[in-house]
Amino acid sequence: MTPPPLLEVEDLRVEYLTATGRVRVVDDVSFTVRRGEIVGLAGESGSGKTTIALAILRLLKAPAAITGGRVLFEGRDLLGLGEAELRRVRGRKISLVTQSAMSALNPVITIGEQLVDAIEEHEGVSRRRGLERARRLLELVGLDGARVASYPHELSGGMRQRVVIAMALALEPPLIVMDEPTTALDVVVQRELLGEIARLRDQRGFSILFITHDLSLMLELCTRIGVLYAGRLAEAAPARQLAAAPRHPYTRGLLGCFPELHGAATRLVGIGGTPPDPRHPPPGCRFHPRCGHSLPACHVSAPPRTVVGPDHEVACHLLP
Ligand SMILES: Nc1ncnc2c1ncn2[C@@H]1O[C@H](COP(=O)(O)OP(=O)(O)O)[C@@H](O)[C@H]1O
Ligand code: SF4
Ligand SMILES: [Mg+2]
Repeated sequence: MTPPPLLEVEDLRVEYLTATGRVRVVDDVSFTVRRGEIVGLAGESGSGKTTIALAILRLLKAPAAITGGRVLFEGRDLLGLGEAELRRVRGRKISLVTQSAMSALNPVITIGEQLVDAIEEHEGVSRRRGLERARRLLELVGLDGARVASYPHELSGGMRQRVVIAMALALEPPLIVMDEPTTALDVVVQRELLGEIARLRDQRGFSILFITHDLSLMLELCTRIGVLYAGRLAEAAPARQLAAAPRHPYTRGLLGCFPELHGAATRLVGIGGTPPDPRHPPPGCRFHPRCGHSLPACHVSAPPRTVVGPDHEVACHLLP
């Protein structure tokens, strides 16, 4: 029997409210993350990935607003929670690792103290117990526990990002949202860190929503993947299925640009043209100006989601 999903995002819609009107940057996006699973969200820059991550944690700031949908975590809709309840969810239930977090570490405070602060914010532990926990957390992410005494500038980029992951793990949340967690690092360090993330997940059993523009990285790490295009899900499928038999022209284009699926990381921009300006999206299928297969219907109506196999959905008029 399939266990109930940990996270269910249903028809999520996010709009930026500007002086000239509403700009819809996330449009009826639905996906689930089950316990212990690593689910990927891929998409070019501007496709709405970070907006979705922030919407799940209810961290979006005006002028962005969630204008539709539900975000169910352990069956509870996070969109209905007040600020006090949300504080209990963040960190303890869902934590966030971002690309920029490693540069946001405080340069004048030791790593250990920053970890203790993160723990203390949620749990009233003593300084000494907190520091012991900090040491263990660093060891968990493959760093020497003695690094509690180091300052951020004494660590490499890869080590700093490990510290950020240690912080995200501090309260043992069942779900970690990772938004481009390795993008700022060089390819070798990226791979090491991904190995570490996979190992930690195997060991601790938490779930990950893994967000990146790099589909090749994602194919190695994730169980299931959603491909976003201009704020909409073009295709969602088990990773193996997506690699072996992609159905959406956009996904096919993305995969076609990889020399080999497990080769060196390749940027997710291998298709002619650029994504649309979200203020003036093309009518119908938003991908139609870049699609080599478009039909008359593609210019006028948005393609519905079609189920083409287990956990496999595609939004394209080519499908029956
Ligand atoms: N403060 C803002 N006001 C208006 N539009 C924004 C704002 N922040 C982001 N956007 C737009 O939202 C879209 C999605 O952005 P984002 O979620 O950051 O994409 P990604 O993470 O996939 O690169 C982009 O088109 C971006 O220009
Ligand atoms: S709906 Fe039409 S334009 Fe969009 S991807 Fe499918 S064939 Fe191409
Ligand atoms: Mg982003």
